[in-house]
Amino acid sequence: MDVAGQIESAFQQYWGGHFEVVKSFFGEPRPREQLIAWLELQLYKEIHVVPRKAREILEMYERLDADVERSEFEAECYELADEVQHYRLLADVHELLLGERRPATSFTATPEQRELEAVRRTYANGGPFVKSVGGFAPGGGAAFAAAGSMIDGGPVERQLAAAFEVIYRQELQHYHKNRFVFDRLAREATVAELEEGLRYARELARQHFLLRNSSFGCPLSPDRVREVDAGKVAPYVPPPLY
Ligand SMILES: [Fe+2]
Repeated sequence: MDVAGQIESAFQQYWGGHFEVVKSFFGEPRPREQLIAWLELQLYKEIHVVPRKAREILEMYERLDADVERSEFEAECYELADEVQHYRLLADVHELLLGERRPATSFTATPEQRELEAVRRTYANGGPFVKSVGGFAPGGGAAFAAAGSMIDGGPVERQLAAAFEVIYRQELQHYHKNRFVFDRLAREATVAELEEGLRYARELARQHFLLRNSSFGCPLSPDRVREVDAGKVAPYVPPPLY
C-alpha cells in the first residue's frame, strides 16, 4: 500500500473506534447526568472553533479576489455556519435536559481536547500536504454522527438523532472536500513529506479517537482501546457523496 493509502487506512481504523464509542454509549439507557456531561464537552468542541474561523474569514476578506479565491471564501463561511448550527442543535437538547441556559463561553476543554490541539500545533508549520492531512478530521465526525443518527429511545434521543443526521451530512461533505485537496497534494508530495504526513495521521487519528471515548465517559475499556490500536476493529469508510 502506498503512503497515501496508509494515511487513509490509519484514519479509517480509528473512525471505526469513533463509531463503536457512540454505538456503545447509546446502546444502553444513560442517566440524564451522563448525557449532560457528554453534551457539555461536545458543545465546547462545536463552539470554540467559531471565533478562530471568524478571524480567518476576516483575514480572507482583506485578500478576497486579490489572492484569495472567492469559492474558498464562500466555503469557509459555510463551514462557520455549519459549526454554529451543530452548536445550536446540541445546545437546544442540553438546555432541555438541564432546565436552564448556559453561556457559550462557559464550556471548556478537557485534557484530551488540549492534547488533540497540541498534536495539531506540532504539525502546524508543515507544508500544504502535511496540513491537508488535518483535513481528514471531519471523517471522524462523520463516523460519530453516523452512529448517532441511528439512536432511538425517548424524546431526547429522537431529538439527538435528528441533530446527528444534520451533523453527519455536513461532516461528510467537509471530509470529501478536504480529501479532494489531500489527493491532489499527495500526488506531488516528496517522500519526506509523505512520511511526515503519515506520522501526523497516526497521532491525529489516535488522539481524536481517545478524545471521543473520553468525552462519552469511556464506554470503551482500556483493553478495547488497545485492540482498536492494534487494528482489531471494523474500519469506518465514509460513503461517497455522489
Ligand atoms: Fe461540528
